[in-house]
Amino acid sequence: MEWQAAPVFASPVFKLKINGAAAARDVFRTKLQESAGDDVRDAQGALSHYHSRTNVFEQVPELAALGEALTKAGNFVYHELMNFKHSGPLRMTNAWINLCEIGGIQPMHNHVNCLLCGTFYLHADAKTKLVFEHPQFAPSAHTELYDKPDEGPNAHGLKFHQRTAQFGVEAGDCLFWPSNLRHGYSANQTPGRLSLSFNMMPDTLNVDYRLRPES
Ligand SMILES: [Fe+2]
Repeated sequence: MEWQAAPVFASPVFKLKINGAAAARDVFRTKLQESAGDDVRDAQGALSHYHSRTNVFEQVPELAALGEALTKAGNFVYHELMNFKHSGPLRMTNAWINLCEIGGIQPMHNHVNCLLCGTFYLHADAKTKLVFEHPQFAPSAHTELYDKPDEGPNAHGLKFHQRTAQFGVEAGDCLFWPSNLRHGYSANQTPGRLSLSFNMMPDTLNVDYRLRPES
């Protein structure tokens, strides 16, 4: 039988090197970690979020320069790499720090309140992974039609059945991805896994929909 298969509509995950991971880690450990009260720290088992309801770059002045560098990187990714050339500049709508100890879990989820997500790693090791889920296999309204392919190797060399892709990261890596892409990790194996996550939105979209009335 003669046949062809083409990989179409790939989902992008970008990795950029950004300076400032060690300095931000020090700021967290010396200034934020010990003094954080319940208004700052939101604990879920072995995983704690700091400033998850605000913007950590606005709350901690020592991190402001890093916030500007990450914002610049996000704009490069969105406008230059993803080709949204006619949308407005991206800004961070919120940003927070994640501290995860051994065994901590981040269940699969996506971010519905932005268009571009980023995570900058402040502390990681060889076991630090972030897992992304193929949008085709994400839960949908058509759960009755959900089916599960065999996850083993394909005898024809195809990889369309692969449900997840995982990325290893190290301190100083920043991952960016479209916000509708589900991501997470199971049973963290990195002691003191520390990352800084943020959501980004363009000030204006290149469509009829407007974020706010034009003045
Ligand atoms: Fe997330």
